[in-house]
Amino acid sequence: MRKPFIAGNWKMNTDRAGAVDLAGGLVGRLKDVETVDMAVCPPHVYLDAVAKALNSSNIALGAQNVYFEPKGAFTGEISCKMLKDVCCTYVIIGHSERRHKIGETDELINKKISAAITSGLLPIFCVGELLEQREAGKTAQVVTEQIKEGLAGLSAEKVLAVTIAYEPVWAIGTGVNATPDQAQDVHAMIRELLADMYDNSLAGQMRIQYGGSAKPANTAELMACPDVDGLLVGGASLKADDFATMIKTVA
Ligand code: 13P
Repeated sequence: MRKPFIAGNWKMNTDRAGAVDLAGGLVGRLKDVETVDMAVCPPHVYLDAVAKALNSSNIALGAQNVYFEPKGAFTGEISCKMLKDVCCTYVIIGHSERRHKIGETDELINKKISAAITSGLLPIFCVGELLEQREAGKTAQVVTEQIKEGLAGLSAEKVLAVTIAYEPVWAIGTGVNATPDQAQDVHAMIRELLADMYDNSLAGQMRIQYGGSAKPANTAELMACPDVDGLLVGGASLKADDFATMIKTVA
């Protein structure tokens, strides 16, 4: 059985006080949840403050990005060790906003995933097609390429540290989520691909989150899909009530 995993990606939102309030509000609302793994991913500059607000609770801390080099002259970048130092467990890698707005490549994403795992961080590895790719019938091809290149060279032992997040780009921040059938189709395809790349047992253990306009109203139907093991939540994770409701729906 795969334990559900719900993570909040706060993106470039909140300020210091708001981030601390949001984290504190979640701790209070979710303290009794045991059957769902939970994480919040604030902006880098608030990781330390949010770590303190989470106060060793059942909610883990994640970052939204990392660099693959261990240290040195990489102005503006943050290392895996730095993220560990401020108590991060998870790190989002390859988010579509970084792929399409910042220009991250599959090769860079692969280096980041590998460095994160080696440092003991658990990557949340995002994949997903653009609207024009879906309309051209290329969803499976695009997602397959992203996964093969993102996970290239990773042993089975290492890949087990990864959560895959399927986030169709057309569903992110649009209010239009993938239907449960659309999500299930791609999740099942991803699991088959993992079975091909590794084996059935590994594919059966790996968690695949869905992301893209996930909210309280669609949580139950998305999570009812057999291959949807969790959610990566953007907008709705910025409201303590909404995010807590989603988690309690799953729990
Ligand atoms: P929304 O939930 O705001 O659509 O964002 C999804 C997302 O990009 C999470 O990483």
